[in-house]
Amino acid sequence: MQILVLGSAAGGGFPQWNCNCRNCLGLRDGSLTAQARTQSSIAVSSDGERWLLCNASPDIRAQIGASPELHPKRTPRDSGIGGVLLMDGQIDHTSGLLSLREGCPLDVWCTPNVHQDLSTGFPLFPMLEHWQGGLHWQPIQVDAAHATATFSVPVCPGLTFTAVALHSNAPPYSPRRGSPTPGDNIGLYIEDTRSGRSLFYAPGLGKPDDELRGWLKRADCVLADGTLWQDDELQRAGVGQATGQDMGHLALSGENGLLSELERLPKSTRRILIHINNTNPILDEKSRERAELDARNIEIAFDGLRFEP
Ligand code: MLT
Ligand code: MN
Ligand code: ZN
Repeated sequence: MQILVLGSAAGGGFPQWNCNCRNCLGLRDGSLTAQARTQSSIAVSSDGERWLLCNASPDIRAQIGASPELHPKRTPRDSGIGGVLLMDGQIDHTSGLLSLREGCPLDVWCTPNVHQDLSTGFPLFPMLEHWQGGLHWQPIQVDAAHATATFSVPVCPGLTFTAVALHSNAPPYSPRRGSPTPGDNIGLYIEDTRSGRSLFYAPGLGKPDDELRGWLKRADCVLADGTLWQDDELQRAGVGQATGQDMGHLALSGENGLLSELERLPKSTRRILIHINNTNPILDEKSRERAELDARNIEIAFDGLRFEP
């Protein structure tokens, strides 16, 4: 199984166009040692030729441009992307579908909750019907009655996908904003049936439970929510009122933070953070927080990172 990180930042990217936080300002004026990052998305492949896009970010055009694996190679109109899977219905994970309209019809895997939000509050599914039939919904049956769903994806032969309901939040245009139900956010356990190797991917994780801990423990590699260092980070930076918990993102630091969850994993588990918000001090390569990640053997994904779990 091959993983290609197309974008490693949270919504807004890094730097964010209208943000003057210490990090965004420092990256722009050159005073910060850090790498720019586009919005969160990965691609998964079992043969290195055909790829499943997991989340379609608004930066998709530049991300494809920077990834030769995804370029057209075989026919006059073509792509290495053979399908899209959505972890949630948020703008930073779905609005790239608009930029993929020339490639419709396109198979899109998502839960009934996400399909509903993308048919109403943010109606990508009905809109894109006007482009060669649009998006062909492939339901991921994670809902109130099903905490997990296991399925395969034709473009990734040999890989088994298990979606796991996560506690996070629904998007602002969802009727379930503030009171999410199973299926608003999923984590994805991907196993390569040939090598037995596995990845758990969860860019939006609000509150861990024992079900989730079981999946984290099983995975050879965990690629998880590194949005915020502190729950009230946006307030401290003077850029917003929402806390991490409001948005459905568990902060990294603190007694019950994601770092202490990752601490419990087997020593052999590879741990990588993704969906990093531009306010997060770990983006500053010289920061104390970055040094703490190094000491804990935790990596930070960057755009263009390629690895086999
Ligand atoms: C989130 O991850 O909470 C959202 O993507 C935030 C946003 O981009 O509006
Ligand atoms: Mn996001
Ligand atoms: Zn910023």
